[in-house]
Amino acid sequence: MGKERDNMFLDVKGLSISYGDIRAVQNVNFYMEKGELISIIGANGAGKTTIINSLMGLVPVQSGTIIFKGQDITKMPAHKRARIGIRIVPERSRVFPRLTVYENLLTGMYGMKNKVSPEKSILQLYEIFPILKERKNQLASTLSGGEQQQLAIARALVSEPELLLVDEVSTGLMPKLTQEVFSVLETLNKEHQLTILLVEQNAFVSLEISTRGYVLETGQCVLEGPATFLMDNTRIKEVYLGH
Ligand SMILES: Nc1ncnc2c1ncn2[C@@H]1O[C@H](COP(=O)(O)OP(=O)(O)O)[C@@H](O)[C@H]1O
Ligand SMILES: [Mg+2]
Repeated sequence: MGKERDNMFLDVKGLSISYGDIRAVQNVNFYMEKGELISIIGANGAGKTTIINSLMGLVPVQSGTIIFKGQDITKMPAHKRARIGIRIVPERSRVFPRLTVYENLLTGMYGMKNKVSPEKSILQLYEIFPILKERKNQLASTLSGGEQQQLAIARALVSEPELLLVDEVSTGLMPKLTQEVFSVLETLNKEHQLTILLVEQNAFVSLEISTRGYVLETGQCVLEGPATFLMDNTRIKEVYLGH
């Protein structure tokens, strides 16, 4: 595309991943600039979770490279990636039901070298997630589905990551709650300059808050461009937006 990619925040080139004989991801290329919110959209089985997990170091890459802030992290173990600022909100992320909201947030520091103070970071997060402040001493099991998703996102932010990877946060949520969660993601990106990668089946809600998007079909990127362009695309409308 003629774009200068030397200074990219995240640059993924020729990514391929297999599970045994199953080719889950094939020669996928994408990049992110610092402060961007981008979406990778695709149907069930397209390879979204595989990509997100490979960025976190949870599945091995077969070929291709992942460059994060100029460093080749393709073979770096997950705990080291966490220390250099990458965090994941996994698909169907679970909070600890018998811990309070505050205790759940503290678990976000697990395995981190203490460069940030969790107490201070949690106080800042309460400003972004007022519902968690209100409920801080309640058991997480008493939160609604949407509130639990907010807690899962906030927990990933306690260690103050630079890149947040979010896997299908809308799964199992009613549309109104999905909107709430996405509006929090939008605030994190627009007001707190957090770089966020969303992977979603729910194309419309995620493209609505994205600058750019990539469309994944059976492990391959078939279309990419500005979010507005993708939302206007006839094929996207038919396949993903139900128009
Ligand atoms: N652990 C696994 N073992 C074997 N095949 C897998 C495994 N995980 C995913 N797959 C396969 O890889 C493909 C991509 O899966 P996935 O990345 O989970 O897609 P998505 O998140 O878009 O639904 C699918 O065909 C899926 O069946
Ligand atoms: Mg998935």
